[in-house]
Amino acid sequence: DRPITVPGLAEARQAGRRLAMLTAYDAGFARVCDANGVDLILVGDSLGMVVQGHDSTLPVSVEDMAYHVAAVARGLRRALLVADLPFQADATPERALDAATRLLQAGAGMVKLEGAGPHKLAAIRFLAAREIPVSAHLGLTPQSVLRFGGYKVQGREAAAAAQLRADALAVAEAGASLLVLECVPSALAAEITAASPIPTIGIGAGPHCDGQVLVLHDMLGLDTGHRRPKFVKDFLAEGGSVAGAVRAYVAAVRGGSFPGPEHAY
Ligand code: KIV
Ligand code: NA
Repeated sequence: DRPITVPGLAEARQAGRRLAMLTAYDAGFARVCDANGVDLILVGDSLGMVVQGHDSTLPVSVEDMAYHVAAVARGLRRALLVADLPFQADATPERALDAATRLLQAGAGMVKLEGAGPHKLAAIRFLAAREIPVSAHLGLTPQSVLRFGGYKVQGREAAAAAQLRADALAVAEAGASLLVLECVPSALAAEITAASPIPTIGIGAGPHCDGQVLVLHDMLGLDTGHRRPKFVKDFLAEGGSVAGAVRAYVAAVRGGSFPGPEHAY
């Protein structure tokens, strides 16, 4: 299989081929994901919770991210590596450029940043103009946990839904190539996906996105010490092994059987 490229994401969407994405934080798991059909690997700042044991993603540094990106990159042959800009690494366009450059030099093929406020759009625009592929991330943006007062479904009220629809168009207009939608009602994610010029990847966003992502620890049924959200499915139970779980996940995403109604809002 040829490596997944940034233009390949839009091509997959055009062809109606759903994208399967998982997080990974080290070379060993990255290799298993890559060898079993995962299209995109996310080195998420979720590593602050599932690897480092913090109760939010806020403590994660660019240094931490670069360390894990380098390890994951060594395990990949085909999948596109997306790396999160950690908390406040996107506070100014210049900081975002420094952080993104480090992550791309460590082996990432795209960086992801949360939100669509004015300085977030400025950062997306600044990076995209400098040949750095960007994924946006809207809905439940975990770096906003203090303002949200917890991890809650976003976009349930009409005004919040309208804001999300506008934000989705704004991040694409600013130059993002991909949009992660986290914990939003299925119907809203479907509307946003239909209107979006760029592919959407859902997590707790129902079955109508162009692809899906899960945290690796969650889809392997590991107890991370955090409440297991409704959208999570344990694929190890049916897959029988880590490789089997990844294959089952990829097949379920491609075939449209995951997420089911029981995993959606
Ligand atoms: O950090 C992460 O794992 C993420 C996904 C949940 C989308 O951002
Ligand atoms: Na993240």
